[in-house]
Amino acid sequence: MENEVFARRRAGFLTRIGERDAAVLAAAPSRPRNRDVEFPFRQDSDFYYLTGFAEPHAVAVFLPGRKKGRFVLFCQEYDERKAIWEGRHAGLKGARKDYGADEAYSLDEIDAVMPELLADRERLHCGLGKNPEFDRKLLDWVGAVKARARAGVRAPEALIDLDRVLHEMRLLKSPEEVAVMRQAAEISAKAHRRAMQMCRPGIYEYQIESEIIHEFMQAGSRSPAYPSIVAGGPNACVLHYTENNRQLKAGGLLLIDAGAEYDYYAADITRTFPVDGRFTSPQRAIYELVLEAQQAAIEKVRPGNHWNQPHEAAVKVLVKGLVKLSILEGRPSRLIKKEAYKDFYMHRTGHWLGMDVHDVGDYKRDEEWRELQPGMVLTVEPGLYIGQRCKEVSKKWRGIGVRIEDDVLVTEDGCEVLTEAVPKTVEEIEALMEDGRENV
Ligand code: GLY
Ligand code: MN
Ligand code: MN
Repeated sequence: MENEVFARRRAGFLTRIGERDAAVLAAAPSRPRNRDVEFPFRQDSDFYYLTGFAEPHAVAVFLPGRKKGRFVLFCQEYDERKAIWEGRHAGLKGARKDYGADEAYSLDEIDAVMPELLADRERLHCGLGKNPEFDRKLLDWVGAVKARARAGVRAPEALIDLDRVLHEMRLLKSPEEVAVMRQAAEISAKAHRRAMQMCRPGIYEYQIESEIIHEFMQAGSRSPAYPSIVAGGPNACVLHYTENNRQLKAGGLLLIDAGAEYDYYAADITRTFPVDGRFTSPQRAIYELVLEAQQAAIEKVRPGNHWNQPHEAAVKVLVKGLVKLSILEGRPSRLIKKEAYKDFYMHRTGHWLGMDVHDVGDYKRDEEWRELQPGMVLTVEPGLYIGQRCKEVSKKWRGIGVRIEDDVLVTEDGCEVLTEAVPKTVEEIEALMEDGRENV
């Protein structure tokens, strides 16, 4: 994103929180992995959304009521030695010049400066509960302002979660954000196609994972948006399976849930396909049922419909289909009411998508599911999971796990599936895999 995008976001945020309030956001902490090694650093999404600043050890303060100095950044001072060992960092001068901070201070000065900045602010917007250590510090700074009460200084009286303003901004994607999400979707789609073409019995799940990462990186993504799930056979029934260390067997399905992060935005795609390129008849029956549910759910993604309508549509199709396949018994409406499907479909049909794979934004307004609006992006991802030990159903269904997940943008007159470049029908999948076998 260009600097001006961040400047525009800051201007919007400052206007929305109002003259009397302040906002304080912390950079993500760096986390040790083992001894001298750290986990790869990824900036906190809220912090990055407003600053474009990708370093740890930083705090941003927003003060709309000030004439000058509305955006204050605390960060690490430039240090030549650090530059040699760890690489580039902006320093205070860079914070002003390259990141548009009106004022920049060393993080070492924060305890002295912050109480000054927060004096006479009525409410404090902050990311509550995200980083307990930082929450503690915030309260210390508020306490330090309070200690000056006799000098006539007032301290903030309320802490407001970033959900109220910032997360509403993040929920509605601008054209620049949609363009980046399209890229993330395109890269991820390529990776799924590659995985389908490279798959064959005998290889290990992590070898397919390596093909996905290869495609992500070749296409300009530095990292997956979340750990890839490459789940062969019954592993597909473990929703958060990430061991990815089993050998793939002919006759089984492979479920891949993987998405690239591109310029801080996530894609989130799932496809399920046969390891040896041909669906068996029970696999096909379950697969086509999930596909029908997904299509019904996508049809409900349009402005004016509420958040839960796609889920309701998916559940309706799944339950009717499960009865038809004799996996469930009874009247569909009653089974839905009793939530009898939850043994086989235990998650919801989607979530907001953006800088975080499970992105921010409320799902309800005044206790009602909120309306979909153009610019929102969500996933649509129904599934069916019939565990291997599920004795209540006929043997032929056991160990089948299927999920189909796409990323969907709400448009003015309906929706657009951003990830449709990955084959989805049985025929398309089988044809691509056949093609893959010829080319390997
Ligand atoms: N990949 C996480 C999810 O599908 O929600
Ligand atoms: Mn998802
Ligand atoms: Mn997913």
